[in-house]
Amino acid sequence: MPDRETWATRLGFIAASIGSAVGLGNIWRFPFQTAENGGSAFLVVYLVAVLLIGLPALLAEFVIGRRANLNAIDAFDRLDRPNWKVVGAIGVLAGFWTLAYYSVVGGWVIRYVYGSATGAYFGGPEAYFDAIAEGPEAIALHFLFIATSAAIVAFGIEDGIERATKLMVPSIILLMVGLAAYAATLPGVGEGYAFFLSPDLSTIAANAGEVVPAAVGQALFSLSLGFSIMITYASYLGEDDNLALDGVSIAAFNTFVGVLAGFVVFPLLFAQGVEVGDAGTNAVFVSVASALSGLPFGRVLGVVFFGTVLIAALSSAISLLEAVTAYVVDNYRFGRVQTAVGIGTALFLAGVPSALSLDWLDWFDTVAGSLLLPLAVFGVVFFVGWVMTDEAIAEVRQGASGSGTLSVLWLWTVRTVVLLAVGGTVAVSLLELRAPPL
Ligand code: PFF
Repeated sequence: MPDRETWATRLGFIAASIGSAVGLGNIWRFPFQTAENGGSAFLVVYLVAVLLIGLPALLAEFVIGRRANLNAIDAFDRLDRPNWKVVGAIGVLAGFWTLAYYSVVGGWVIRYVYGSATGAYFGGPEAYFDAIAEGPEAIALHFLFIATSAAIVAFGIEDGIERATKLMVPSIILLMVGLAAYAATLPGVGEGYAFFLSPDLSTIAANAGEVVPAAVGQALFSLSLGFSIMITYASYLGEDDNLALDGVSIAAFNTFVGVLAGFVVFPLLFAQGVEVGDAGTNAVFVSVASALSGLPFGRVLGVVFFGTVLIAALSSAISLLEAVTAYVVDNYRFGRVQTAVGIGTALFLAGVPSALSLDWLDWFDTVAGSLLLPLAVFGVVFFVGWVMTDEAIAEVRQGASGSGTLSVLWLWTVRTVVLLAVGGTVAVSLLELRAPPL
């Protein structure tokens, strides 16, 4: 077998993982979810969910990946538990499935970068979105987005993903900070901040049964868990990295960008008196677009804003593609370039229904979020907590200093709190599953 690729630097691994974590979820979901569910009180719930559930689960994926040094499916073989390969397979399938429609959304973002420059959506953001979201143009831009992701992945771990994300992640952070600084100068900024973060305990108290699972779900999705990505990325690591420290930096940056996004979008909306609307496609492509169209220098701002969203979406898309590519490259005689092109083509075809109809896009999203993702996380957490056990502790200690008490605490958290929380998420989310819109 040819030598397997590795990251050139530890920073490269961290940049790639942050690039995966920071995506559309941070910009169009997290700020709106926070504002609607109790502001800073929700933020506290979310932070607890990240610390208590997201971070331990992230470490669980890292431990499998680095121990096995293989793609997320064969990793279980190498750990002498071949029956568990199904967990890795569900994750890889989740990655493929998600990227098929994530790429359609990526295509819209490309359209909006261009549309901002020309002011195309300024006259009527809602009608504009309806016009470009479905149909031949959406298909063409979906193609462009997936082709760009495939091109980066084709260059490999060090020359492709590492090099690209080392540039992309600092750009996202700088651009977001710049946008937030600009937004702070707008009239109505105080109202925007208040809408985003005023603590509202009563909303949480009244709807705890919905708010808490939503926070847990967002913590998992936002850290890109359940897509076999973090298993795959960690498989290119050396033994001397401190996994726990890396995990903390990734989770911290990911949360930081989400909060920063709130400091950008709400002042924009309030300055222009635009109705906030629901989280999701509408939030960014209609509400924010409409605010941008009324601001001085709206075109420049629009290019910067949607450009930032595009970089965030791309750095997430390449991680999804890599999880699938790694499996093929590890197993078959195809080169990385051929594999990336082949899988890119399959993804393009799988995304066509979503580019033709929002109902299909929505259904793909539901199946990924309500079925594949929670099941895969549950499998990973169960595996590490109750099957791998001592081996997992040994792996997490590798490259870390300290007495080891923390690693035992981590394993018990995975076995109990994380497993229960993820199990609960599986149960709640399965109820949302529905038949395709045929
Ligand atoms: N973590 C991304 C976000 O919050 O937008 C979503 C995501 C991207 C999940 C890529 C999984 C993934 F592979």
